Amino acid sequence: MSEIRFDDRVVVVTGAGGGLGRAYALAFAARGAKVIVNDLGGDIRGEGENVSAADRVVGQIRDLGGEAVSNHDSVENGERIIDAALTNFGRVDIVVNNAGILRDASFRKMTVEDWERVYRVHLFGAFKVTHAAWPHMLDQRFGRIVNTASAAGAYGNFGQANYSAMKLGLVGFTKTLAVEGAGKNVTANVIAPVAASRLLETILTPERMAILKPEYVTPLVLRLCAEHNEESGSLFEVAAGWMAKVRWERAEGISLPTNPVFTVEDVDAGWEKICDFSVSDHPASIRDRSAAVTAKLVEAGLLP
Ligand code: NAI
Repeated sequence: MSEIRFDDRVVVVTGAGGGLGRAYALAFAARGAKVIVNDLGGDIRGEGENVSAADRVVGQIRDLGGEAVSNHDSVENGERIIDAALTNFGRVDIVVNNAGILRDASFRKMTVEDWERVYRVHLFGAFKVTHAAWPHMLDQRFGRIVNTASAAGAYGNFGQANYSAMKLGLVGFTKTLAVEGAGKNVTANVIAPVAASRLLETILTPERMAILKPEYVTPLVLRLCAEHNEESGSLFEVAAGWMAKVRWERAEGISLPTNPVFTVEDVDAGWEKICDFSVSDHPASIRDRSAAVTAKLVEAGLLP
């Protein structure tokens, strides 16, 4: 097995002052990358700023003989973070969109501000950082992007309507980046991690926290950013040494006649079959999806 290295690659990790981002920044630097350690140093809810979080990580990287520069901009100003990479290191090769906050509240109690703050950091922030890096990646024919979703986005979670919406939004964002980066050696993937960080310390027991080290998530992230990585547009769940790809599954469904036109009662009568996964497929691209829909329309006699 040859060692996976990032020598001469420039990596931007957002929200790298603590938790998962810090673990990624240290791991990339240990394998030769030049790292922009971005973090504005706010609290879990996105309040306040503290430059020392990112600076401390840069200090640790330098103490270990690595190269890193801190940046304290909010991801909402993603172009400044990418500018820091270009100014300090002359290029940008890898972006890990990791910064995150929580504004949990049951949907009844969720405020517009709760929704907007979570949108601004997770979805808009990832857009801003990636949008600034994207043309450089296309032009240099190399780019690796890892976005951060969550099980809350894939499955839903009480009190996280805002967070889950943004996290699943990042899955769609990633899949389209993968389509547009295909053929240009620009890959984009998304992870739904579980790791002991301040985001989980009020939810998990100390025993659970001890086995969910952020460092266990980093090898997957680094693998998705490796020179030889061809994986793109994929979602992975990862926790404590377990990692697995997640995909869509679609039931075979039913095709109802349109002449005479089908009714709500026909849909009701077919409900079990609409939701039956005993025959199913796994569309991996919009082309797969369209081909299957066209085949169904042909089968139903609606298309020649
Ligand atoms: P964390 O709170 O330790 O790290 C997040 C970092 O992002 C913080 O250092 C914070 O200062 C920074 N940040 C927040 N807003 C920012 C902004 N506007 N600009 C720049 N930096 C900003 O949390 P953790 O757990 O390391 O989370 C990392 C990512 O993983 C987040 O996107 C989170 O939603 C996601 N995630 C984490 C899970 C876990 O089990 N820890 C579960 C699912 C998703």
